[in-house]
Amino acid sequence: NMPALAQCYNLLDFESVARQVMKNTAWAYYSSGADDEITMRENHSAFHKIWFRPRILVDVEKVDFSTTMLGAKTAMPFYVTATALGKLGNPEGEVVLTRAAHKHDIIQMIPTLASCSFDEIVDAKQGDQVQWLQLYVNKDRSITKRIVEHAERRGCKGLFITVDAPQLGRREKDMRVKFSDAGSNVQSSGGDSVDRSQGAARAISSFIDPSLSWKDIPWFQSVTKMPIILKGVQCVEDVLRAVEAGVQGVVLSNHGGRQLDFARSGIEVLAEVMPALRERGWEKKIEIFVDGGVRRATDIIKALCLGATGVGIGRPFLYAMSAYGQDGVERAMQLLKDEMEMNMRLIGASSVADLNPSMLDTRGLQAG
Ligand code: FNR
Repeated sequence: NMPALAQCYNLLDFESVARQVMKNTAWAYYSSGADDEITMRENHSAFHKIWFRPRILVDVEKVDFSTTMLGAKTAMPFYVTATALGKLGNPEGEVVLTRAAHKHDIIQMIPTLASCSFDEIVDAKQGDQVQWLQLYVNKDRSITKRIVEHAERRGCKGLFITVDAPQLGRREKDMRVKFSDAGSNVQSSGGDSVDRSQGAARAISSFIDPSLSWKDIPWFQSVTKMPIILKGVQCVEDVLRAVEAGVQGVVLSNHGGRQLDFARSGIEVLAEVMPALRERGWEKKIEIFVDGGVRRATDIIKALCLGATGVGIGRPFLYAMSAYGQDGVERAMQLLKDEMEMNMRLIGASSVADLNPSMLDTRGLQAG
């Protein structure tokens, strides 16, 4: 007795339904975090330390939360972030997310380890829909070069290089279930032989190059004109270094708590990063994205107030897709839209440009 879609009133509701209806292997892969999952939980609780300081008597009859990310206009200040193995949750895989994203004019990041081929996901795009590529860098750079050049040719508008995964974290829930699902075939990784004894994540990631370093950034800049964004930056020092390296953006992220346990949450790092950038007058030099634990429009608004360009959302769309297919993902996006409208009004902001740090009380972050 699965609840009707209309009974999902927020993004967390999709998680509880998905848990009931998903296959064990898929649930274990999507829901797991690294080690004791402290960081995965912290991604939520960090948002709970930030409170609003709303402004009253602002005309909020019309509320506009459209924005621009990496030069692309989008209806909402969030994007569908890259999550591997879409077919574990839905037989059609990532193209379901593509279609839903189109309906709501939302940007999608395509994972290197998608279940659908890269071309299938690009072919599912409609009109001037915007897609980005998430890149795991292969030890064989000629493979990586081919993937990047192909993505640029196919119209991808951003290259998100994942930098928090020189080795995949231990997701023990995932390791405990036998990894033998049909949906787990990865088409685009260029990976070699697959060891299935260590869970889904380990099995598909052996090609990733742990020697990747700052020295490689100029090479990426020489092979593509796409904006380059480092996904998985976790401290101020590395954001400053990213500016110096001339990349266009960073994602403050701990990979949804799936990599280093006891990594801090992206939102908390953001609260340190923006003042450091402003101090140097660098806040316009780089776009700062955040992901991890975003489930409510209030989470999104907090990130924007602090200075983020946009936020990524991962698991909720996977759960919505696994439980209800495209309709589920569209409803999840609609719920966020409705929450955005209401909460922008309640905080006293009629556009994204109105959101600023004075609308937040972040003393709880310093208090730890
Ligand atoms: C991910 N994430 C991820 N990131 C990445 O760079 N490459 C990848 O292949 C994947 N795969 C992946 C699979 C699954 C099942 C999850 C849940 C996550 C991390 C993802 O892009 C993002 O950082 C987090 O999902 C954000 O946290 P929330 O929104 O899931 O809490």
